[in-house]
Amino acid sequence: MDIRVQQQSLTAIATDLLVVPLPQGEQMGANVQALDAALGGVLQAQIARVKFTGKEGESLLLHTYGRLPSAMVLLFGVGNPVRAESETWRRAGGKIQKEARHQGASSLAWFVDNASEAVASLPIVAEGILLSSYGFDRYKSEKNGKLAVKTLTFAGPELRKTPALTAALDAVSKTVPGVLLARDLINEPASVSTPSYLAAQAVQIARQGKLKSEILKPQQLKAAKMSGLLAVAQGSIEEARFIKLLYKPSGKAKKKVALVGKGLTFDSGGLSLKPPKSMETMKLDMSGGATVLGVMQVLAQLKPQVQVTGYVPATENMPSGTAQRPGDIIRYRNGKTVEVLNADAEGRLILADALLAAVDEKPDVIIDLATLTGACVVALGGQIAGLFSNNDELAEALLRCGRETGEPLWRLPLVKEYKDDIKSSVADIKNTGSGNAGAIAAALFLQEFVGGVPWAHFDIAGPAFAEKDGPYISKGGVGFGVRTLVRYVMSL
Ligand code: BES
Ligand code: MN
Ligand code: ZN
Repeated sequence: MDIRVQQQSLTAIATDLLVVPLPQGEQMGANVQALDAALGGVLQAQIARVKFTGKEGESLLLHTYGRLPSAMVLLFGVGNPVRAESETWRRAGGKIQKEARHQGASSLAWFVDNASEAVASLPIVAEGILLSSYGFDRYKSEKNGKLAVKTLTFAGPELRKTPALTAALDAVSKTVPGVLLARDLINEPASVSTPSYLAAQAVQIARQGKLKSEILKPQQLKAAKMSGLLAVAQGSIEEARFIKLLYKPSGKAKKKVALVGKGLTFDSGGLSLKPPKSMETMKLDMSGGATVLGVMQVLAQLKPQVQVTGYVPATENMPSGTAQRPGDIIRYRNGKTVEVLNADAEGRLILADALLAAVDEKPDVIIDLATLTGACVVALGGQIAGLFSNNDELAEALLRCGRETGEPLWRLPLVKEYKDDIKSSVADIKNTGSGNAGAIAAALFLQEFVGGVPWAHFDIAGPAFAEKDGPYISKGGVGFGVRTLVRYVMSL
């Protein structure tokens, strides 16, 4: 999509669908009056008839029948813009994109009334438009026949194309493709999105973005003593992969960040088999890995002055004659032993190897993302990720980024006293807790492998996969965390 910024008056804008954002209670403002005059008074009449108030999300569509250079005008309620959060603009972007598509409009303009105060919201509107344009229809015989919006113009009488605005719009255009890449990787069925497929995608991302990539196959996994990943993979015919991508800035890096993503391409539960209903969506279990790959793709283009390494341990979790058994013990490279009491608590087993690999390289920060526990979904639902951290400053920074991107995080505690719950009678620790506070038990398990490095863990089991369409998210893979992590890295 082509994004333009133009200085133009409301009645001069020529586009298929002209969107005029309207704060609540401003139905009689100067803009509406100008439009109304051009349209011969039908606008005010229509506003009165449908009782349009400008409440957030409310909209009113009119055809201009040649009375204006734009074919259609959409009045769009934005509520109280002073109190509006970034989500207001992102949702607006999603809604108007859908309306444009519905109306067959291939060009869309967003009117910017008072340049100075409204400018900050423009990149967010663009983000909503781009995010909502996504659909996964590769396997549909009948595609959505409606064309996508090709041009987006921000126009207003006082709008200036400043370097800051251009840069912000550019960052959005580079970030959203990373989100959509993650969505694709998640939405592909597990028969396609296998560990070797993820590795091939990572290599391609590296090639395109001039990143370094390293892929470990089973032989090399053995040599590297990735015993958790191998233990989970041993029940599957699909070979495991350990994916590593490195972005190195030119010049001295300000910080070194390690990103770790769970790449469980299908979670059947292994011998601790899941019931059929719970398995239906378990292709989602590589969402953390997909997010890390998406972030790496974006960073290759945004080029922060920060070194970032992405680690994705990738495998299936399958039941078979070669699968790991409840009661088996894994010995990790750092000497720690883990009793596997539940083969379905596999995420933490493969993440442990990745965290050890990350710690080896002495990063300033480690952030992992994983669809780790059903317990986190019970606690926070489908829209909020659990955030755990051993470092308050890091947690605060991430919470702020999550608020700004509309990817909400809620901090949960690493309760020291609950460490007793993961003690094993035969090994150092076990991979299940007491049954209570399952998300915390899983996070405490991970903490055993990060040493003293400032670390944050996102349990994205809820928000990684949408159960229904939202304003700018479609049912299925969300790419949750890509925008938050990009924002975080860019803020360092
Ligand atoms: N991948 C699942 C967690 C999950 C559940 C993700 C629902 C998305 C939606 C994870 O591997 C798992 O099975 N966790 C178990 C852990 C338990 C056995 C300790 C769970 O949450 O039931
Ligand atoms: Mn599982
Ligand atoms: Zn899992």
